[in-house]
Amino acid sequence: MSRFPLPLPRFELALEPSDLAWALGRIGRHGPEDLARLETEFARHIGLRRAFFVPSARLGMYLALKALGLPEGAVVLLPAWTHPSMPATVVAAGLIPRIADIARGTWTMGREQIPEEAWQDVRVVVATHMYGCPAPVAELAAEARRRGAILLEDCAQGLGARSGEIPAGVSGVASFYSFALTKNFTTLGGGMVGVQDADLAERLEELLGDAPLSADKTAVPTLLKAVAFRVATARTLFAAGVYPALAAGWLGAGRDLLHPLFEERFSVEPPRSTGRPSPLQAALGLRLLPRLEEHNRRRAANGLALLERLKALDLPELGLPEIPTGGRHLFMSFVVTWPERQALARELFRLGVDSSPGYLRPVTRVGVLAGRVEQFGPCPEAERLEARQLHLPIYPGLSERDLDRMADAVGRAARVRPSTMKLSTMMGWTTPSSPSSRPTTPASPDAATAGSPPGPRRR
Ligand SMILES: Cc1ncc(COP(=O)(O)O)c(C=O)c1O
Repeated sequence: MSRFPLPLPRFELALEPSDLAWALGRIGRHGPEDLARLETEFARHIGLRRAFFVPSARLGMYLALKALGLPEGAVVLLPAWTHPSMPATVVAAGLIPRIADIARGTWTMGREQIPEEAWQDVRVVVATHMYGCPAPVAELAAEARRRGAILLEDCAQGLGARSGEIPAGVSGVASFYSFALTKNFTTLGGGMVGVQDADLAERLEELLGDAPLSADKTAVPTLLKAVAFRVATARTLFAAGVYPALAAGWLGAGRDLLHPLFEERFSVEPPRSTGRPSPLQAALGLRLLPRLEEHNRRRAANGLALLERLKALDLPELGLPEIPTGGRHLFMSFVVTWPERQALARELFRLGVDSSPGYLRPVTRVGVLAGRVEQFGPCPEAERLEARQLHLPIYPGLSERDLDRMADAVGRAARVRPSTMKLSTMMGWTTPSSPSSRPTTPASPDAATAGSPPGPRRR
């Protein structure tokens, strides 16, 4: 192993340089038949009756809600911890979002999180496969059915997740997938709405019938962004350029400089247009689809391998992902919780691990949704997650050695009191075995856990 391993970036694009070069060379060379083929092959891949290629998951949800013909003001139940575009879309469709809490560790909403009163007048329940963790769709679908509601599945982070043997997306009446740049399958933006119900498929067909295709050139800005992502996260370039820039943020402001880039504005207005993505995007999807399963397998395996390593650290206050029995957690994000997560992130960064504090919060605190979301009782897990979440790097390109190094860094960083962090050595990442580079580790067990008092296992 090199004495000076390069820092681990937080993100890896699911497109190879060869895919980017291919896409640049294919502009203007595809047509509507590629959209139709992608829809057919995607539907077959998941096991859906029909799939429609749309500009985003949120637009897919909007169209599905419209196609369902729900009365104005009908209630849609969602998790308190989800992408804000989802409840915003519910409002845009003239419906009322209502939220319930999430379960610790899976960060998904199951039947247990929904208080009896919250079921009143619910017409739609949204199961969200958050961070790639399969939501308990079977129990939610059964409960929804019993109460005369229908189930939708938000698979924006769940493309390839499985509850037992059941793939995410096939249990709901409709499901939504996001192909944004940060996802495990990306068509330079775009998404899919999957449908299991024949009538709904027909209505969506009507709604989308005349929607114009986007021109390939509209995908070019995202393609260039993808090239920039690829360059910025290549290990050597990341070490030489991005990492020092991020270090300046930690040194100067004590914060993650990339955080504001993920702040997004959400609209509760109906979308102005419902066009379709471009043929180039469809062709890219067709190129990537045969590789998706292998990508997911490696991502999931790395997530499990990191989980085992972190469990072995036996840090009582480190909250770890919970894996539902059977099935497959995709680990779109590897979220841990820690009482002083900002300090942990900073120390991890010093040790060469670029983590992220995450950018979601309980949806009730998203400006445009304030006062528009119904809630029965508190959502303590969502609140707690906001204060403690930390996203560790997780992607198929991590090696066993990277995972060892990351777990070692978490173990060391967790034992450092914030006050002992030496900013002057911020840039001094070295191998785990190099004693001179070790952060100051207090000798006594009490001091070692001063920032995290010993006690019962809490997350
Ligand atoms: C859980 C979840 N739902 C919905 C969305 C929205 O997807 P899109 O940006 O394609 O509309 C996202 C986006 O990241 C998401 O993570």
